[in-house]
Amino acid sequence: GKGGYDHYMLKEIHEQPHAIRQCLSGRVDELHGRVELEELDGLSTPKRVQFIACGTSYHAGLYAAHLFREMGVPAQTFIASEYATSPPPVGEDELVVAITQSGETADTLSALREAKARGAETLALTNVVGSSVTRECDHTMYIRAGPEIGVAASKTFTSQLVAVNLLVEAMNGNDAGVLTGLRDLAGDLQSVLDRVNVRSAAAQLAAADRCFFVGRGLNHPVALEGALKFKEITYVHAEGFPAGELKHGSLALVTEDTPVVAVLTGDDEETRKTIGNIKEVESRDAPVIAVTDGRVEVASFVDECIQIPETHPHVAPLLANVVLQLIAYRSANLLGRSIDKPRNLAKSVTVE
Ligand code: M6R
Repeated sequence: GKGGYDHYMLKEIHEQPHAIRQCLSGRVDELHGRVELEELDGLSTPKRVQFIACGTSYHAGLYAAHLFREMGVPAQTFIASEYATSPPPVGEDELVVAITQSGETADTLSALREAKARGAETLALTNVVGSSVTRECDHTMYIRAGPEIGVAASKTFTSQLVAVNLLVEAMNGNDAGVLTGLRDLAGDLQSVLDRVNVRSAAAQLAAADRCFFVGRGLNHPVALEGALKFKEITYVHAEGFPAGELKHGSLALVTEDTPVVAVLTGDDEETRKTIGNIKEVESRDAPVIAVTDGRVEVASFVDECIQIPETHPHVAPLLANVVLQLIAYRSANLLGRSIDKPRNLAKSVTVE
């Protein structure tokens, strides 16, 4: 059942601290500060990586490729249904990772077969034990989120990102800062669930005809995911952009009636550039809702500032994402939508 929650989605949002602990369980050797993944026995650090996925899992793939490139491994992410239209070369020591919650998505399985035909070594990142993808890949890593009933992916996205971090740390020599961030993540996420108030942000977005989500770097996939979640369950047009891209055309749509949700974590050049982008939309009178870890002060010039705990920059986007989940959920609830079963959608898409 829904365990006292109005919807499975809300229950699943609240299950995230538990899902994170499950994903980490037995995989981090705290004493030696090392990630140990039995799943990867026989798999060495790849020379190059390709991720193939759809929807929310595609956003996890964008996040994953960013982390691999940061560790010096060339990595690309493909929308599975496009992969075979122009298949990329598969080199020696190339790893192809299929990210799929259900393990049954036809587009992803079909792209995977294309990669296998080209000789790729393959890894499945999935939630469902024994699903089709696990039978077709050389290696499987489970995200261990537990069953997800809501059609909109929530806890499984968070668990995908945790699993990706484990993969990167196992291959990249275990950064103490990331491991600390992961260790604290369940607690930090719980504090977001307990303390963050999205009521007025949700009311503002639910009242709009369209809204935008922007973020840079690791917050770009979070912005895309925030928009997908929002449109999927509210039926309000939402679009996610890399923060710097809005000005290359879509800024023409921005008015005082177009709320913009900006995700800002970390304290670096990227965050400062995103602030510049926020100022551009503000000068068109768009209301701006910032989701921030507070490392850079934004509260003084945005309409609303939603604060998340400070943590490692690889991990902060996971906390920001939870705020966007809550905003989407609250907005959809205000609009009286069918949150667990949005119109026209199915949990597992088994046709191409
Ligand atoms: O099971 P998969 O991860 O392969 O599913 C991929 C997409 O169909 C899925 O993530 C979809 O985008 C979600 N409904 C989004 O909430």
